[in-house]
Amino acid sequence: MTEAKLPRLGINIDHIATVRNARGGEHPDPVAGAWAAIQAGADGITAHLREDRRHMRDADMVRLQLLCESENIPLNMELAATDEMLKIALDLKPKAVCVVPERREERTTEGGLDVVGGHNHIAPIVRELAANGSRVSLFIEAVDAQIRAAASTDAQVVEFHTGAYAHAFDDGDQEKADVYLETFRSGAKLADELGLEVHFGHGLTFENVAPVAAIPECMELNIGHFIIGEAIFMGLEPAIKEMRRIATEARA
Ligand code: PXP
Repeated sequence: MTEAKLPRLGINIDHIATVRNARGGEHPDPVAGAWAAIQAGADGITAHLREDRRHMRDADMVRLQLLCESENIPLNMELAATDEMLKIALDLKPKAVCVVPERREERTTEGGLDVVGGHNHIAPIVRELAANGSRVSLFIEAVDAQIRAAASTDAQVVEFHTGAYAHAFDDGDQEKADVYLETFRSGAKLADELGLEVHFGHGLTFENVAPVAAIPECMELNIGHFIIGEAIFMGLEPAIKEMRRIATEARA
């Protein structure tokens, strides 16, 4: 792997599996998608093994881990803070784990993890994952109390949830989007001061990614739905390359 340009680009391939599962067969194979994403310059592969297995399956995660290991690319496994997922991640040993909130009825991960309220439950899980060699990230809102709570665990990373920002931006509500951006900037500074690496993800597109990528502390973007959707029109490789171009230029 060559030295990554900042911010690094993690490609979330869940929705290749969503399309596969719509027919129940093997095509399109998300692991083949991960391979194509790596060829297109992805710095990491992200996959969320949900409790209901609506997209990724257990066997996909094993194959993804083998692929990422052989390509020397980090696999970032997203998971809920449950005993079942903890056991799977401890066996799989992905390079990175991102703990996310999960509700069965939601369409996607809505809102950040409540590390303040759930500290007694989350901190021991983070400790076990970190002791097992995974770099642990907590998917939170860019709120001071959540950042401080994350810093009091063994997590090395916080990923700020950009979903509400993306909604405001996509709705044309620039004023509201700017308020979110301001919380990202101050939250990223605080996290950095507390020794946490800062990532961003959710709902990011060619149109709304630049101001997020421009935040100096932003080390990684994790992007899935838009890129996989856009790949239908322009192909996966051009979609990833265009996202990379925009993110890199935003930082220059
Ligand atoms: N980061 C995290 C922690 C997520 O849960 C998701 C969605 O699975 C993403 C990033 C990617 O979001 P999107 O698919 O909207 O790009």
